[in-house]
Amino acid sequence: MARTMNPAEVKAPTGYETISLRTLTPHMGAEVGGVDLSRPPEPGQLAEIRRAWAEWQVLVFRDQQLTREQHKAFGRHFGTLHVHPMNHSREGDPEILVVKTTGDSPYTAGDAWHADVTCDPIPPRASLLYVTETPEVGGGDTLFADMYLAHELLSDPMKEFLRGKVAVHDGGLPYVGNYGSTPPEGGYPRSEHPVVTRHPDTGRAVLNVNSGFTTRIRGLKPAESRAILKMLFDHVATTPRLWCRVGWEPGTLTLWDNYCTQHHAVWDYWPHSRYGERVSTLGEAPPQPY
Ligand code: SIN
Repeated sequence: MARTMNPAEVKAPTGYETISLRTLTPHMGAEVGGVDLSRPPEPGQLAEIRRAWAEWQVLVFRDQQLTREQHKAFGRHFGTLHVHPMNHSREGDPEILVVKTTGDSPYTAGDAWHADVTCDPIPPRASLLYVTETPEVGGGDTLFADMYLAHELLSDPMKEFLRGKVAVHDGGLPYVGNYGSTPPEGGYPRSEHPVVTRHPDTGRAVLNVNSGFTTRIRGLKPAESRAILKMLFDHVATTPRLWCRVGWEPGTLTLWDNYCTQHHAVWDYWPHSRYGERVSTLGEAPPQPY
């Protein structure tokens, strides 16, 4: 297969003084050492965590012991906490999304390639999943896809075709179609976003359609839209070099950037159980076109 040059592949985790980084792949994902998330980080350390997040997109913090308040307090360093649309009708803390799977679960959350809640007009930017119970048989990993690289690996004519296009992201697709939940009055959110976005911090182009939420590309005939979306979804799902894989242990917190990654929870551990809680933060503005 032809080699596509990708400058992101040659980056290195250098110049950090208050944290250590061990990268998961050459382009995305890093384990962060030297941080106790139960305490407010020093400004210098927070700045380095932010820099690492911008450079590596997915950060994994091991051996943490967090209360819900500590989890939320760390999340607030990345923005105002988001309330998941399915949490509006649930009891409990609206800023905590429980991610719980047991042998009786009809589904597991996030079991498809997606970025979080892209049906919202301003989708969540950061997600922080803190896992406290993992399947005793192993498994339950999460795959992440680098959506900068997904865009870079498209041909120039395809990049040109997609630029300026807008797609519909519909919350009914996962929350009703897959999870069977009862929609709130007025239905789950549905929004339109650019197919290729400009990342708000890095300015890089991001492929911004996902099989979890995206239902059609505006301006194309339905059959054309279906064919293009299928090609793009297959690109993410069948290109392993886009991915990194996070294996969880009790006490692992992973922070990812929904504005340049997608993820897929792997449900390979039935009938065993896995438990985590997720906090997400609001983006500052609707996704902008590239
Ligand atoms: C999700 O946030 O989509 C769930 C991810 C996971 O459980 O690994």
